[in-house]
Amino acid sequence: MELKADNGEGIDSWREVTLIYNAALRQIETRMEILNDEFQHVHQYNPIEHIKSRIKTPESIVKKLKRHQYESTIDNMVKYINDIAGIRIICSFTSDIYRIADMIAEQRDIRVLAVKDYITFPKASGYKSYHMIVTVPVYLSDRTVDAKVEIQIRTVAMDFWASLEHKIHYKFEGDAPEYIRNELVECARLVSDLDDRMLELNNKIQNIGKPGGGQ
Ligand code: GTP
Ligand code: MG
Repeated sequence: MELKADNGEGIDSWREVTLIYNAALRQIETRMEILNDEFQHVHQYNPIEHIKSRIKTPESIVKKLKRHQYESTIDNMVKYINDIAGIRIICSFTSDIYRIADMIAEQRDIRVLAVKDYITFPKASGYKSYHMIVTVPVYLSDRTVDAKVEIQIRTVAMDFWASLEHKIHYKFEGDAPEYIRNELVECARLVSDLDDRMLELNNKIQNIGKPGGGQ
């Protein structure tokens, strides 16, 4: 791995990059846990099932920079790679996804740079997920750095599908046979159907006992 040190963006070494992006991930993760706890307290239910986070490996950062024809410098990574720090929030129901996305966007010091709603507009592969690129301030001893974090929000079922699809994509180096791709599209349809039915079922259960609700 070769990264040329560069001072342009206020981050000047790979160690500093990992330190800052790790701090950004921890911040987002803690904030999500706080929201989840508060939700439990107010509504007696947890919208978040679990959270996964990772820092992109230097190898895959360099690969991505090459793919986009950028030189492997610290400046270029910080500027062009939006998913050095990545966090995946897995929830139970599709409705939780938008609730969580709104709660993130409302945090005063979080800036939303971009949103891709693959729930409303799934990819041709069948991929569904809600993506946000945000910045969160990381307070260092002598300065504050805004660090980019890619947030992916999806249901348990969407995550199940995406994990298998990712493995297949990797195995066939992006060129899976047509019958497998078709099968994946069909599975994605089943996943959407399952998500809809589980949400409907949950709504029915929630309404039981309420005035005007079932029973
Ligand atoms: P990169 O794919 O990271 O170059 O970014 P992009 O600009 O194309 O953004 P996009 O939001 O489409 O994808 C970002 C990330 O979402 C990927 O790195 C994957 O983790 C995930 N993702 C996007 N599309 C798919 C897909 O079809 N299948 C799976 N399994 N994951 C996907
Ligand atoms: Mg992509």
